[in-house]
Order: sequence, then C-alpha cells, then structure tokens
Amino acid sequence: MANRARQRKGTSETETMTEYQLLHEMDFRNPEPSKSKLCQVLKVMLLVCPCLAVGVFIGWLSFRNSGGSQNCQIQPNSDQQHQHDMENTFKRIMNDLAKENIISNLRNYTGRQRLSGTDGVHELGRHIAQQWRDHGLDKVEVTPYEVLLSYPNTTDPNKVQIVLDNGTAVFTSTFVEKPLDPDGNQTDIIPPYNSFAPAGIVQGDLVYVNYGQIEDFMFLKNNLSINFTNKIVIARYGKIFRGDKVLNAQRFNASGVILYSDPADVNINGTSDTYPHSWWMPDTGVQRGTVGGDGDYLTPFYPAREYAHRLAVDKSIINIKIPCHPIGYGDAIHFLRELGGHVAPDTWKGKLNITYMIGPGFINTTRKVKLTVNNYLKVVTVENIIGIIKGKVEPDRYVLLGNHHDAWVFGAIDPLSGTAALTEITRVMGEMIKSGIRPRRTIVFCTWGGEEVGLIGSTEWVEEYMKVLYERAVAYINVDYAVDYTDYLMAGTSPLLQDPLYQAAKIIPNPDPTSPYRTLYDIWNKTNPGNGTGEPSIYYSLGSGSDMAAFYERAGVPSIDMWYSYDFKKWNIISYPLYHSAYETFHMYTAFIDPSFNYTLTMARLWGVLSWKLADEFLLSFDVRRYAKAVADVINTFKIQYGTLWNEQSVNIAALDSASSNFTLAAHNFYDYVRTLDKNDSLAVRMVNDKMIQLERTFIDPEGVPGRPIYKHVMFAPSKFDSYTGSSFPGIVDTMFEIQHNNANSWELLKQQVYVVTYTIQSAANSLDPIGL
Ligand SMILES: *[C@@H]1O[C@H](CO)[C@@H](O)[C@H](O)[C@H]1NC(C)=O
Ligand SMILES: *[C@@H]1O[C@H](CO)[C@@H](O)[C@H](O)[C@H]1NC(C)=O
Ligand SMILES: *[C@@H]1O[C@H](CO)[C@@H](O)[C@H](O)[C@H]1NC(C)=O
Ligand SMILES: *[C@@H]1O[C@H](CO)[C@@H](O)[C@H](O)[C@H]1NC(C)=O
Ligand SMILES: *[C@@H]1O[C@H](CO)[C@@H](O)[C@H](O)[C@H]1NC(C)=O
Ligand SMILES: *[C@@H]1O[C@H](CO)[C@@H](O)[C@H](O)[C@H]1NC(C)=O
Ligand SMILES: *[C@@H]1O[C@H](CO)[C@@H](O)[C@H](O)[C@H]1NC(C)=O
Ligand SMILES: *[C@@H]1O[C@H](CO)[C@@H](O)[C@H](O)[C@H]1NC(C)=O
Ligand SMILES: *[C@@H]1O[C@H](CO)[C@@H](O)[C@H](O)[C@H]1NC(C)=O
Ligand SMILES: *[C@@H]1O[C@H](CO)[C@@H](O)[C@H](O)[C@H]1NC(C)=O
Ligand SMILES: *[C@@H]1O[C@H](CO)[C@@H](O)[C@H](O)[C@H]1NC(C)=O
Ligand SMILES: *[C@@H]1O[C@H](CO)[C@@H](O)[C@H](O)[C@H]1NC(C)=O
Ligand SMILES: [Zn+2]
Repeated sequence: MANRARQRKGTSETETMTEYQLLHEMDFRNPEPSKSKLCQVLKVMLLVCPCLAVGVFIGWLSFRNSGGSQNCQIQPNSDQQHQHDMENTFKRIMNDLAKENIISNLRNYTGRQRLSGTDGVHELGRHIAQQWRDHGLDKVEVTPYEVLLSYPNTTDPNKVQIVLDNGTAVFTSTFVEKPLDPDGNQTDIIPPYNSFAPAGIVQGDLVYVNYGQIEDFMFLKNNLSINFTNKIVIARYGKIFRGDKVLNAQRFNASGVILYSDPADVNINGTSDTYPHSWWMPDTGVQRGTVGGDGDYLTPFYPAREYAHRLAVDKSIINIKIPCHPIGYGDAIHFLRELGGHVAPDTWKGKLNITYMIGPGFINTTRKVKLTVNNYLKVVTVENIIGIIKGKVEPDRYVLLGNHHDAWVFGAIDPLSGTAALTEITRVMGEMIKSGIRPRRTIVFCTWGGEEVGLIGSTEWVEEYMKVLYERAVAYINVDYAVDYTDYLMAGTSPLLQDPLYQAAKIIPNPDPTSPYRTLYDIWNKTNPGNGTGEPSIYYSLGSGSDMAAFYERAGVPSIDMWYSYDFKKWNIISYPLYHSAYETFHMYTAFIDPSFNYTLTMARLWGVLSWKLADEFLLSFDVRRYAKAVADVINTFKIQYGTLWNEQSVNIAALDSASSNFTLAAHNFYDYVRTLDKNDSLAVRMVNDKMIQLERTFIDPEGVPGRPIYKHVMFAPSKFDSYTGSSFPGIVDTMFEIQHNNANSWELLKQQVYVVTYTIQSAANSLDPIGL
C-alpha cells in the first residue's frame, strides 16, 4: 500500500513553542537541581567564602551520609548527567551514520525484484537478518507467517481490450512495462496488476469516473442519471486509496474497474520529458498496488502462525468482488478518446490530448470494453525481520522502529530507501552497545514483509504480540520510504510524539549545509510551516497507508510516520510519479530523487536520534496537553459544521464539551505535576511515563468504529471512503456523511457515537488523574 497520506489536516492543531520544550531545554543548560535549600546555600558559600565553607562542608557530608538528601550534589544530578551523555550519544549517532553504507545497502537491496512471497524478497530478508546479526544486535529473528496473497497469471495475462460485436479485439493493453534503464532490464519482473482483484471476464460499456471518489459516483448517478449496472468504469489513480475506488464502484453496482495513471497526476503538463530523462512517468509506466484490506484474510484478528485455524477462502472476508486491472496512459488513451455521451466537467479533465468524455459507452456503440483478469490466490510465507537491543534499566519498555522490505518491483524509493537507512542505524547502534553504551529501554528494529499487499507482516506480528505491545510499547516510529523528493519533511504523528519529534529535529543539521537555516527543524518550519501555528507542519490522523496502522489503530501505540517529500503546493499530486512502477530503480533514485543522499542520511539521523531519545530519556518528552488540544479543536470544528443540526436533533453537545474540558484540565494539571517532578525519583518517573504511554490506549475501543471492527482508535482512524487518510472521530464523521449525503436516518447511531466519544474523552481525563476513580 504505502502511499502515505498527504493530507494537510491537523496543521492548525499545533501550539506555539511550548513551555514543555523550554523546560527540557532549560534542564539541559541549567546545572541547578534546586531541590535542596541547603545545597544552594552551600554552593554560594563555597563560591563566596571558601574558608567558612570548609566547616559547613563537614556538616554537609554528615547530612549527606545520613541520607537526608540524595539529590543534593554539587555535581550535576544524575538526570542532568544523563541528559549530557544522551547529547553526546546523539552526536555520535549523527557522525557515525555513513552515507556510503546507505548507498551500498540500497544498491544491493534494489538488485532484483522483491515482491512479497517470491524468492527475491526472501533472499533480501535473509541478507538483512545476517547484516543485523553482524552488526551485533542482541537478538535477530525471522518471524514467518503463512498468509493468503494474490498474483497475476503470467502465462495467461490480464488484459483490457476494445472488442467488436463479433468478438474480435481491435486493441489489447500491453502486458509488461518496457525496460528503460539497465538497472531495470531484468526478466523476472511480475507484470502490473492489482492484488486481491478477483479473476473474472466482463464486457460492457465504459464510464469515466474521474478519481472514483464517492462524490464522483454520486455526481454521475444523481446529476447525469448514469446506471452503473453492467458498466465497466475507468478511474484515474490519485486522491484516494485505490481499493476504495473499487469499493465505490461496487457500491454503485459496476461490473469491473480499469485504473490508469493520468498525465495530470504523473506527468503534470502532459508534455514533459519522462523517465529515463526525468522523474515523470512515461506512457509505458503502470502503478501496481493492492485493492484489498489490511492483514491476512484467512486469519482475521489473530496471527497467521502454523497453529492457526484458517477460514476457507470462500468464507473469508475478501471485500473486493469485481475484477480490476491497472494500465498506463499510453494504453488508457485508446479507451478514453473513443468515449461518447456526456462531456466531462472541467475538474475531471486530465492532461491527455483528447476531449475528456464520460460515456456511458463509445461513440461507436458497437464497440465494447472487455476486461480479463486472471489473478489467483495462494497461501505463501511472508517474513519479518525483528532485531533487538535490550534495555539496560527498563527492558520491558519498547521503542520500535519499523519499515518494510517487500516491494512491487525494485523498490528503490518504496520502501528500500528506508530499509537501507534502517540497516545503517542497526550498524551504528550495534557499535554503541559494543562500546558499552546501552539505552535505558529496549529498542526493537522491524522490517516487515507483505506490506505492499495489505500491511500483512506488521499486522500479523502486532496480532501475535498484542498483549505485550499493549502493555509495554512506548512508541512506534515508521519510515516506509525515507525520501521521495528533497523539498521538505512530512510527518504524521500522535499528538503525544509531536514534541519529541520537534526536539529531535532541532538536533539534526539541515541536509543542505549552504542554507542559512541551521537545523532540520528550522528548514522544516521554513519550507513546510504549520498553518498559523508558528511550528512545522504535522498531521495527526495517521491513515492506514503504511505499517504504523496496526500499532496505532489496534494496539494504541503512539506512532509516527515520516519521510522527506516534494512540495505539495508545487506539484499537487498524491504520490511521486513513478510510484509502484518497474522504473523505481537504483538509477532512478540516484539520478532524480536524492543524488547527494543528504536527505536519505538526514532521515536516518532523525530516525536514529528520535528513537534513541525515546529509549533513553528518563522522563518521556510527551506533552499530554497536545492531545487535549487536538480533541478540543476537533470538537470545535464539529460545532461549527454541525452545531445547528445537532441542536435541532438534541444531540448531547453539553456532555461532549464537558468531557473535553475535563480532559483539558486534567492534561494541564498533569503537566504541572510533571514539571515539579523529581526526575531522579525513578518510581515517580516510571508512573508518569506509563500514564503518558497509556493515554493513547484510552482511545482504543474494543468494539472498533462502526462497521469496521479492525479500527479501534476512536479518535483517529482511516477515513471510510479513503483509507489512506485519517479522519478524526470517524464514528461521528462517517455517520454525519451518511445523514448529509445519503439522507440516511441515522440520528440514533449518531447520538450513540457522540456518547461513545464523550465516554472515551472522559476516560482519557480519568487516566491522567492521580487516582482516576
Ligand atoms: C547483496 O549482498 C549479498 C551479500 O553480499 C549478496 O549475497 C547478494 O547477492 C547481493 N545482492 C545483490 C542483488 O547484489
Ligand atoms: C495460468 O494460466 C494457464 C493457461 O491458461 C493455466 O494452465 C494455469 O493453470 C494458470 N495458473 C494458475 C495458477 O491459475
Ligand atoms: C469481425 O468484424 C471485423 C470487422 O468487421 C472483421 O474484420 C473480422 O474479420 C470479423 N471477425 C470475425 C471472427 O468474424
Ligand atoms: C536490455 O538488455 C537487452 C539484452 O541484453 C539489450 O538489448 C537492451 O538494449 C537492454 N535495454 C536497456 C534499456 O538497457
Ligand atoms: C439499471 O440497469 C439495470 C440493467 O439494465 C436494470 O435492471 C435496472 O433496473 C436499472 N436501474 C435503474 C435504477 O434504472
Ligand atoms: C509545466 O509548465 C509550466 C508552465 O509552462 C512550467 O513552468 C513547468 O516547469 C512545467 N512543469 C514541468 C514538470 O514540466
Ligand atoms: C493534440 O491533438 C491534436 C489533434 O489530434 C493535434 O493537432 C495537436 O498537435 C496535439 N497537440 C499536442 C500537444 O500533441
Ligand atoms: C463502428 O465500428 C464498426 C467496426 O469497427 C465499423 O464497421 C462501423 O463502421 C463503425 N461505425 C461508425 C458509425 O463509425
Ligand atoms: C550534501 O552534503 C554535503 C556535505 O555536507 C555538502 O557538501 C553538499 O553540498 C550537500 N549537497 C546538497 C545537494 O545539499
Ligand atoms: C489556514 O487556517 C485558516 C484559519 O483556520 C483557514 O481559513 C485556511 O483555510 C487555512 N489554510 C490552509 C492552506 O489550510
Ligand atoms: C516558524 O516559522 C514561523 C513563520 O512561519 C515563525 O513565526 C516561527 O517563529 C518559527 N518557529 C520557530 C520555533 O522558529
Ligand atoms: C466532568 O467533570 C465534572 C467534575 O468532576 C463532572 O461532574 C462531569 O460529569 C464530568 N463530565 C463527564 C462527561 O463525565
Ligand atoms: Zn512502502
């Protein structure tokens, strides 16, 4: 899947430079523990009057030996010493991460195709596991799962055709992508397909449905009275997750789907030089991708281990029922230029040199479209590589770094730019533990299999270790691809991790050393500023575009997903142009994505420093007030959007408000308490840390969001009509959508959802209270 949400929601939900950050920075600079008045007095005396001080010093020694004040030290106290050591470790991580190693990892990893369940990816997994062992991690394991995957039949290719009424095909789509560079000139490439699209042959009239969004179908049905029964739809890639395009087509009763990349989204002027001369997609390129859901279909909710009981395939919950196949724009133009019927609205027009029509059907009504899909299902092995550095003090608290290593083809951007960086981090941290520097908590390195075909490796692993993750995981930091362009940093985050992320970015140098903006934070704030926040842009609603989904949506582990990307204002496209095509080669990456590798290195630095920080700081730098503010902001938006309607229907807004202000108050009280906490009191620190970690868990509801039980995070879940992006309080948003757009009589459900949300927010407030009952 791995087309991460590029939605801009949440940028207005951030605050200005927090006191919490100031506090942390002050801690670092200020050597005064200011715990004991006696200590202060002593130090002043030592400075002002050394002789007098000697006598007092003897008294102080006996006071100290009596255990009167363990924090009273002239040396920086242990927390401050630790802060200092940690700063040195950050510097070492940054210095030791080596570009040349990342480059050679990437060259090796992209050397052949790495599709899930094939020899190519198993070979890569074993190689990575060996590297991680060589790097000296405490433990490296391969965790295999037997799962259901979907492949195209390469001897009986999928195809899209134009046929005459006597059955003769006058046009047939191409089967493979023509190789365009030496790196990609290999024979074992699996041709383009959409995994989990069922086999089937359908024929009929074609309808152009723009991006295949729910509103596109509604427009066609309501404004143009198009009846989709027995129609094949052609949708352009972009805007929403491709699987949701197919589900929408199914909802409107279409019989098949053709997906294509329009130049407007992959070669934006329609005329530029394309790959191998630029990063724009040529007309022979095709985006692959799954149209299925998350996790193994035969073992829902539970791990696909060897002892698993598997559902029969025909009893499984595969939700895609109609055939679907992707093509490039060189093929798509043959279908689109023959369409008759209605003229497409301006916003639906792409950049092919044709008049965009909607249909239904061709101008020459005797010609039809025929879609043949020969995909088949097969149970295969998907492997994750899990490496561990055991924590020195709190081994039962985990900070996880995650990335996947399966790709559609060579995967130079997605995901191996991230994998190459991750392996380099294991090398540097392996050296660290060899030299006796070990983090306080356990660090877990994960590289997942089966991500592209439905987040399968990470989902099965989270299912297997759900109980311990739920209790013990501190944070999950996902970097799928590290870089798809070098304009600015993109980050989706739990509100809890926003401050640690900013603090880490302030330590990392700007990848461009000639810029006047010194740190990554500064250049991020400059090139991708939050809307009116005075801080860099982040978004809160993590969708299910990559492996953080199971951690965040199922286990309630505070998560981040981040990468270096292109400027969305410059190029308003949902993914980099060559996304999931056979042209994502090492040559392409070095020629057009990150030729200097400065940005890939920067992502490795950020990932490494942030993870070490979370694994090693005494007091976690989470700020719970961010969460309360995020909740209050969403509720305010609801009141603006729905207030009038809700009042008419007597929705209990007062209770929702009450819970939200209780949460805000509890968060501020908690924060004030943390400020005054003795950071050398390890029990108190652990209590506070656990409460902050568990705050995310209070948003997990075992019932899940309505109709989608795998998503259990009440506040942030993938949007119902676009699982790439997230929505806030989806139980409310989805129900309001049904009410407003489908005239659904769902007010009872809405009130029930408002009740669930009220309860959840109040639970979050309770969880921060000293007693909580
Ligand atoms: C990557 O390196 C490993 C170990 O040296 C080697 O076995 C493998 O063939 C290399 N892969 C490629 C594609 O070069
Ligand atoms: C692929 O197609 C060939 C030719 O029709 C057929 O013999 C073979 O069984 C198919 N393979 C699978 C796995 O369905
Ligand atoms: C179908 O019709 C086309 C055009 O009229 C003709 O060229 C072709 O030979 C016909 N094929 C069959 C099998 O009759
Ligand atoms: C691919 O390899 C073939 C055979 O070695 C060669 O003829 C062809 O020019 C190569 N194509 C590219 C794009 O490198
Ligand atoms: C749509 O077309 C199908 C097949 O022609 C027909 O059975 C159905 O009644 C039509 N639906 C509407 C709402 O007209
Ligand atoms: C597209 O056209 C605009 C205006 O002519 C030009 O500035 C821009 O560089 C072109 N973009 C690409 C990607 O070629
Ligand atoms: C677009 O198509 C028209 C008609 O086929 C042709 O005259 C024109 O040159 C084409 N424009 C471009 C930019 O290819
Ligand atoms: C429609 O297509 C058929 C088959 O190619 C052809 O014989 C016929 O002349 C076409 N009709 C029109 C109106 O172009
Ligand atoms: C990459 O970093 C190096 C070393 O800091 C620097 O010399 C070079 O100019 C940087 N390149 C880019 C494109 O920023
Ligand atoms: C920025 O925030 C303002 C006020 O909330 C809003 O009106 C505007 O649309 C936002 N701009 C963007 C680009 O999101
Ligand atoms: C971030 O940039 C904004 C301007 O967009 C500026 O007002 C603010 O001070 C900057 N924040 C920091 C922490 O540098
Ligand atoms: C909010 O807190 C007040 C005071 O403790 C309590 O009376 C009220 O019931 C709480 N609100 C909710 C929704 O539980
Ligand atoms: Zn990916």
